[in-house]
Amino acid sequence: RPRVLSGIQPTADSFHLGNYLGALRHWVALQEDYDAFYFIPDLHAITVSFDPATVHDRTYRAAAQLLAVGLDPRRSTLFVQSHVPEHAELAWVLNCITGFGEARRMTQFKDKSAKGGVEAASVGLFTYPVLMAADVLLYQADGVPVGEDQRQHLELTRDLAQRFNSRYGDTFTVPEPFIVKDTAKILDLQDPTIKMSKSASSPKGILEILEEPRSAAKKIRSAVTDSDGEVRFDAADKPGVSNLLSIYSALTGRGVEEIAAQYAGQGYGAFKVDLSEVVSDFVTPLRARTQELLEDKGELDLVLRDGAARAREVASKTLRDVYDRVGFVRAS
Ligand code: TYM
Repeated sequence: RPRVLSGIQPTADSFHLGNYLGALRHWVALQEDYDAFYFIPDLHAITVSFDPATVHDRTYRAAAQLLAVGLDPRRSTLFVQSHVPEHAELAWVLNCITGFGEARRMTQFKDKSAKGGVEAASVGLFTYPVLMAADVLLYQADGVPVGEDQRQHLELTRDLAQRFNSRYGDTFTVPEPFIVKDTAKILDLQDPTIKMSKSASSPKGILEILEEPRSAAKKIRSAVTDSDGEVRFDAADKPGVSNLLSIYSALTGRGVEEIAAQYAGQGYGAFKVDLSEVVSDFVTPLRARTQELLEDKGELDLVLRDGAARAREVASKTLRDVYDRVGFVRAS
């Protein structure tokens, strides 16, 4: 079976609808036909300022949410990045074949270091995309299901795989990004010119998958639209309404056109009320299930331990090949 791999950072108490629609729901679908590896990149989570107790708590919360959205540990390998030391080890080797200028061109580093300035940013944040390349290449993944914002990182991953293969011999599978266009970039509710993101404009701009339904309804009611009053998909001229339509469509499986037709001539009020209902139906069982899973950390530990053991089998083999290829003497 072809293999997929992807990761989601434990950097908030709840994932948001961009994470779910852009990535997680595809992860769930892909586990049926692919050999799927999904992980929580805690090493990545400490590249910006962090609080240890929060990292710890959010890692469990992330694991519980992954199970709650439908990942099945019997079908997918679920693990925590730091449980598989080969990630950091391969990242070192890849750091040594990555150009400084090449790393500097990564737009996420520019964005994330913009606030405090490059001088204050960590070196870990700088080499973040190289660690991400290691994540993917260790598992010889054929496909990487992600949202649009990860495209540049996957291009770097492909470049590094090809470079290593041509310099030291065929070692890595060159992965394809799996980006599903319709929901690859869910937008901020308050500023539909930017993506929905944990570091968003304001909490009002993001819908969490564990959001309290009343709070979600309030955010949807105050979501920025436009003054033309027509529910219609037009990403260029009506980004706010189009974004809400994309969310509605993805959560119900109904077409955007069909939904738009249903609200013809009614303004945005009824449309927003119904979308709130759709979101409420989505978050309510997820909240309950996540809460339930969080009550038994021992059970989550078992899932993650089993996942890490399976992941290490694959990762250690790739790392051994890499070490051989670059000429390291095997420990005897
Ligand atoms: P992260 O944790 O920021 O996001 C997890 C996934 O959610 C997608 N996503 C979105 N999709 C659509 N619309 C949005 N507004 C939106 N916001 C986020 C992301 O594209 C991502 O797929 N660097 C990665 C984590 C990572 C990784 C990896 C991914 C580490 N190693 C290896 C794949 C393979 C990240 O920070 O994603």
